Amino acid sequence: MRVSLIQAFFLLVSSFSTFAYGGNLNDDIEIQWGDGRGKISSDGKLLSLSLDKFSGSGFFSKHKYLFGRLDMEIKLVPGNSAGTVTTFYLSSQGPAMEPNHDEIDFEFLGNSSGNPYTLHTNVFAHGKGNKEMQFNLWFDPTQDFHTYSILWNPKNIIFLVDNVPIRVFKNHETLGVPFPKSQPMKLYSTLWNGEDWATQGGKVKTDWSKAPFIAYYRNFTVNACIWSPAEGQSSCPSSKNTWFRQELDVESYRKMRSLQKKYRTYNYCKDMMRFLGGTSRECTVREKDI
Ligand SMILES: *[C@@H]1O[C@H](CO)[C@@H](O)[C@H](O)[C@H]1NC(C)=O
Ligand SMILES: *[C@@H]1O[C@H](CO)[C@@H](O)[C@H](O)[C@H]1NC(C)=O
Repeated sequence: MRVSLIQAFFLLVSSFSTFAYGGNLNDDIEIQWGDGRGKISSDGKLLSLSLDKFSGSGFFSKHKYLFGRLDMEIKLVPGNSAGTVTTFYLSSQGPAMEPNHDEIDFEFLGNSSGNPYTLHTNVFAHGKGNKEMQFNLWFDPTQDFHTYSILWNPKNIIFLVDNVPIRVFKNHETLGVPFPKSQPMKLYSTLWNGEDWATQGGKVKTDWSKAPFIAYYRNFTVNACIWSPAEGQSSCPSSKNTWFRQELDVESYRKMRSLQKKYRTYNYCKDMMRFLGGTSRECTVREKDI
């Protein structure tokens, strides 16, 4: 069930367009778990995930994608969200411990009232993760909907918030760093309890008297190559496929760097304690990426 990069490029020319423009969430998404705690409104425009003492909830995409740009508007749990973890990520199928596991992650770690959420990002390729970066947001993500996007193509992965790139993970396979590009992934989102580790290192626990905790989702816009299990290959939209080749230009890099200076709170490439210099070759290149 693999598609090589070359094949993927050829597939690009093939057939049907898969551009959804804020349509009915039921077209692309299915509630995965949570025993009724995850809901899609009857008009298909609003999705909510809920967490209480007994369970969280989650949804996933009906399709698997092999490259794409996925945008979702999310409004996070307000007030005292300590201990709650809201995720929005792409993942290959099969167990997370599988040696070929691929994943592209946004995670929102809740906080006690008045303290900021942490936006956590990571990339796993061929089972290797440890590529974390964390950010503060420049707005209150609980007051309004904001757009969180993953742009994934063979050259790079770009994480965007309200259309502003906050992180780029370039394909550095030439340095021996794995990059996810041969397995299709599904989109997943969950709201669950991470009180043992999520907030201020696990010091602040969930206040269950505030449950249920609810996060809202709307306007899922997916522009992606859709995997066909029957054909064992993916079909990319023939139009609107600028994302397939998209990289940041010099100006966008400059903007991203200055935003990172202000809002990035953790960068694995600067974590000398943790890696004892082990990632330095990769990181030397990454820090100079342009
Ligand atoms: C919560 O707020 C504290 C204090 O501002 C901060 O140190 C921490 O990074 C924030 N995020 C989480 C997830 O604990
Ligand atoms: C839905 O999201 C897309 C992509 O982020 C955006 O271009 C569009 O304006 C949004 N639609 C509405 C109705 O907000």
